[in-house]
Amino acid sequence: MAYRVIQWATGGMGKNILRALIDHPAMELVGVYVYSDGKHGRDAGEIARRPETGVLASNRVEDILALDADVVVHAARISPPYGSHDADLIRLLESGKNVISINGFTHPAHWGGERLAALEAACRKGNSSLMGAGLNPGFVGEQLATVATGVCSAVDHIGIVENVSCLPVRNADYVFKVLGFGADPAKVNPNDPSFGPAASLNGMYEEVLAAMAGHLGMDLEKVITEHQSFPATKEIVAMAGVVPAGSVGHYRWRWRGMVGGQPRLTMTIHWYMETAHLDEAEPPLWTVKIDGQPGISLRVDMHKREGDTSPTSAEQIAVAGTVINAIPIVCAAPPGVMLRPMATPFSDLLAHTG
Ligand SMILES: NC(=O)c1ccc[n+]([C@@H]2O[C@H](COP(=O)([O-])OP(=O)(O)OC[C@H]3O[C@@H](n4cnc5c(N)ncnc54)[C@H](OP(=O)(O)O)[C@@H]3O)[C@@H](O)[C@H]2O)c1
Repeated sequence: MAYRVIQWATGGMGKNILRALIDHPAMELVGVYVYSDGKHGRDAGEIARRPETGVLASNRVEDILALDADVVVHAARISPPYGSHDADLIRLLESGKNVISINGFTHPAHWGGERLAALEAACRKGNSSLMGAGLNPGFVGEQLATVATGVCSAVDHIGIVENVSCLPVRNADYVFKVLGFGADPAKVNPNDPSFGPAASLNGMYEEVLAAMAGHLGMDLEKVITEHQSFPATKEIVAMAGVVPAGSVGHYRWRWRGMVGGQPRLTMTIHWYMETAHLDEAEPPLWTVKIDGQPGISLRVDMHKREGDTSPTSAEQIAVAGTVINAIPIVCAAPPGVMLRPMATPFSDLLAHTG
């Protein structure tokens, strides 16, 4: 029996997930939500560069709520503050559909208070579950790094570094106005929580660290930020336009999860237009460094299947992979918000630093 799935939003990521859903024999596409008027009424196959599916996209939330589906894959564009899509997710959960988000939600219980209560109430009402998926958030911290500690008898610190070149990003508004490249470094303070990207990212990556701490039995006291911007060492011609020399050409986002007064979990994400401020000129997608007994180092890159000439990147394909693999898990879960279970059961035996 196939899982009945709705795709919510068809941007770069959503379209790619839509393709994966159409292609997968265990999935039955039953609906597509789009924001734009231009896509309303179009066949999902046409949007996804696939044969006609008979499923027409709609930009009316009511159409989506009325559908009978097992799960909605929520891939809307994130906008500050983190949690700004809660109202949509709550309506979907209340309507009896499980929800997978690629915009965080990897450990919603971390927030407690009214936010958690509202999400939990929606799940109870709809007998539904909410879970995060994706690469980061979703996989490298919450799954990969955590699984790697399975060979350790003690874990002192886990450091994850993600490297994202923004050179190929084409959307100029997004690169310069949303991400903040090309700005005057004196006028940008990435540690100001109201600074655009920080307002979206801080909550999302605090939740990633909370999910890791949750799996590892660590008591996360707080998350502090050590973000930094770097001026471009020269004029850079990116796909989105020119980044002048001396303007912001690199952001280093860094969140430190404090446990027992010490940083025990660190997530670093480099968004860069040049590699001058990186440790290496051709960095991998991720490095994971676990200090403990024993220590572990991972370098991770992704590659497409040989002969695949589609414009979709290996990372985009992988995001869709995490979603596909999450569908049976969220559908089988009891109602409520979820911390995605690990392949291996974990205990709190690793939380000490001995
Ligand atoms: N977890 C992960 O590993 C991971 C990886 C990459 C990206 N992401 C997240 O995925 C999200 C989508 O990425 P993307 O590359 O698909 O972005 P994108 O190409 O900018 O597309 C986002 C889509 O959101 C929809 N949209 C339009 N107006 C909107 C609004 N006011 N509010 C919300 N959504 C609106 C549109 O859908 P329609 O075109 O259907 O109208 C648009 O195409 C990002 O926010 C990012 O944080 C997560």
